[in-house]
Amino acid sequence: MKLIENVYTDAGWDVHEKSLDPEQIVTTGSTFMIGNGYLGYRGTLSEWRAEQYTACIVTDTWDTAQPGALTELCTVPNGLYLELSVDTVPLSAIDGATEVQGYERRIDLRTGLFSRHTRWASPAGGSITLGEERLAHADNVHLIASRFTLIADRATDATVRTGIDADVWSLSGNHFARKEAFTDGELNGVSLWTVESGTQIVVVEGVRTVDSSSESMMRRLDVGLEPGGPVTIEKVVAVYHGNDTDDPRACAVRDARRALSEGFDTLYAAHSSVWQRVWAACDIEIEGDLEAQTLARFNLFHNIIHTPTHARLPIGARGLSSQVYQGAAFWDQETFNLPMFVYTRPDVARSILEYRYDTLPGARRKAERLGYRGAYYAWTSGKTGDELFPDVFFTDVLTGRPIRNHFNCWQIHISPDVVYAIDQYLTATDDWDFVERCGAEIAFEVARFIVSRAHFKKDKNRFELIRLLGPDEYHENVDNNAFTMYLSKLALETAVRLYDELSSRTPQTLARTSRRIDLTHAEVDEWREHARLFYVPAPDPDSGLIEQFDGYFELEDVTPDRLRERLIDPEEYWGWPAGIAVRTQVLKQADVLQLFALVDSFPPDVMRANYEYYEPRTEHGSSLSPSIHSIVACGCGLTDKAYRYFHEAATIDLYNRSRKVKSGGSFLGGIHTAACGGVWMMIVQGFAGFRVSGDSIELDPALPETWKTLAFRVCFRGNTLSVTTSRWRLTVSGAEENSAALSVRVSNDEWIVSPGETVQIDLPRNR
Ligand code: BGC
Repeated sequence: MKLIENVYTDAGWDVHEKSLDPEQIVTTGSTFMIGNGYLGYRGTLSEWRAEQYTACIVTDTWDTAQPGALTELCTVPNGLYLELSVDTVPLSAIDGATEVQGYERRIDLRTGLFSRHTRWASPAGGSITLGEERLAHADNVHLIASRFTLIADRATDATVRTGIDADVWSLSGNHFARKEAFTDGELNGVSLWTVESGTQIVVVEGVRTVDSSSESMMRRLDVGLEPGGPVTIEKVVAVYHGNDTDDPRACAVRDARRALSEGFDTLYAAHSSVWQRVWAACDIEIEGDLEAQTLARFNLFHNIIHTPTHARLPIGARGLSSQVYQGAAFWDQETFNLPMFVYTRPDVARSILEYRYDTLPGARRKAERLGYRGAYYAWTSGKTGDELFPDVFFTDVLTGRPIRNHFNCWQIHISPDVVYAIDQYLTATDDWDFVERCGAEIAFEVARFIVSRAHFKKDKNRFELIRLLGPDEYHENVDNNAFTMYLSKLALETAVRLYDELSSRTPQTLARTSRRIDLTHAEVDEWREHARLFYVPAPDPDSGLIEQFDGYFELEDVTPDRLRERLIDPEEYWGWPAGIAVRTQVLKQADVLQLFALVDSFPPDVMRANYEYYEPRTEHGSSLSPSIHSIVACGCGLTDKAYRYFHEAATIDLYNRSRKVKSGGSFLGGIHTAACGGVWMMIVQGFAGFRVSGDSIELDPALPETWKTLAFRVCFRGNTLSVTTSRWRLTVSGAEENSAALSVRVSNDEWIVSPGETVQIDLPRNR
């Protein structure tokens, strides 16, 4: 099926292109990439180099290339480099001297297998084809494996140059102070030491073929092709660094050697059985709309491959697809990436939240540096949790002058967002062990931070938060941003609740935690008092509207389209201090609506009034915005609008709808992982109306017109439920291995689903 222009799918499990658009190579390098949470290898072609954005981005390698540059993950030399020549003419799929007669590039989402085929008119006459399959191993995350196939339709003497290519894309400069090439038997390797911390990174490459002769780090293989008889070259690459192990070189050599002897088919078998388990937990099946099916899987796939599972590390806002946003976590992680894992692979969600525990010291340092107590999480969080976001991110494209943005010191909602995610995780899993070890301490430290950040307004007898940035980043330095107020109050309540719960469950553990962080009953009582008197802007009794922040309604009321006409340069930054949106009601992204997507205790008429007010004023300048609009539209019964926003959010990367590859002079390309996580939320929480209420699962499906059925699984407190719904009938099955019956509520009726049992529920026709 043709999805758009040059993008196709066969059966919703793949995406492929049939011709190469040189203008789109940044985007398609992300589209066709492979990854395993440890490394991301962009979907570029084997003969490409830095100029075509070739990069292998490796997690936990944060480094600052030179003073003043951004701290980011390193990209490592390209161990899969392979160039084919005939009669000394190199064959390239782009700008080559030779005619390309056939082309395809594909990503198989079922097993994360990249493939490409290019057929050239051979300089020696006839044609010659290069095929490649490649995978980022899902079991041993240090490995990339690939298999090249060469085939010619007449006898041809071809030359293959392959090895480890140092000419790769790196956004903010060269990260390596020292490089050392080595060989170890049949393997080539390179050791690199990062500029800032001197971390050693090792890339080892091995090739399995015939007739090789070594030429520094490149090998030259002379390949005699017989008509129709393919020659196969298998390659393996192993990557390790000093944050994984004390001896990265020995580990990389060991893994590469073993992998080389196992061969591609064996590696693929182990790799695909991991993928089989992953998809069994989190696949979503949509019948009746192949495009939506493909988009769903494409986005779930990306939410998976950018998420570290081998260690407690963050999910980057662009994942491992580029160094943009520094490979670091934002609030996106807790509010967009995690919900899918919380309900499908809770162990993965736990590991990400444990990462937030590990980075508490960094959050404490940030709070202290800015004059507060407790934990103020970094807006941009890498290994240590210290703030990575620079004071200056955008520049004024008209004057070239730097813009001081305050995301790193005023966007405080990040801390309560982390507590929100802990609460969600606990609700879904009942994992009190995690709360005792990590979750409670985080919540306590965040409560401390909020208390130290709040002001008491004596005349109003309430606590307020001033000088903020809410999710809408165009309005900096605002007071009482509604989203931040609600989330902060919730975080205070959660901290108090966990404290009280632990006092009766495990008083000794609580006493230990309290001692460690100097927490007293009196301080917890102070949190109670703050929670009680914390100001949350209520919906206006007449209009139902919640004001985004104090004074928002007095700003100029204009639509984003009219406002856009005021731009002098299309790349101008719209926000603080003098961007076109600052003195208007135009929002960058969902803000009050974001609250509804997270906290579902607002009545539908309030949600609808706010949806109708804020939606036309939202510019969607962030990829986080459309999915939230879709979820809230579902909650208000606006299924058509919800579908439109679903489509918008789900195509941000695949169809390159992220209009802003550059904004305010900053390059922002790569996979928008929050939008990917948002796809799960839109389908499961939006269209299926899934939520947890007390000990029950609630479902309230409202499917888009074209969807015949929607099927997915959720994991709830150790039990799995399979849900299939059409517009009229819902089928819910408890897995055989469940240990308990689950309560499922639909339109106020309750069904008890026992292990192995299937329940059919007719849905009300008025949805
Ligand atoms: C958005 C933020 C988001 C960040 C990283 C920005 O454009 O406004 O909400 O956290 O991108 O995705």
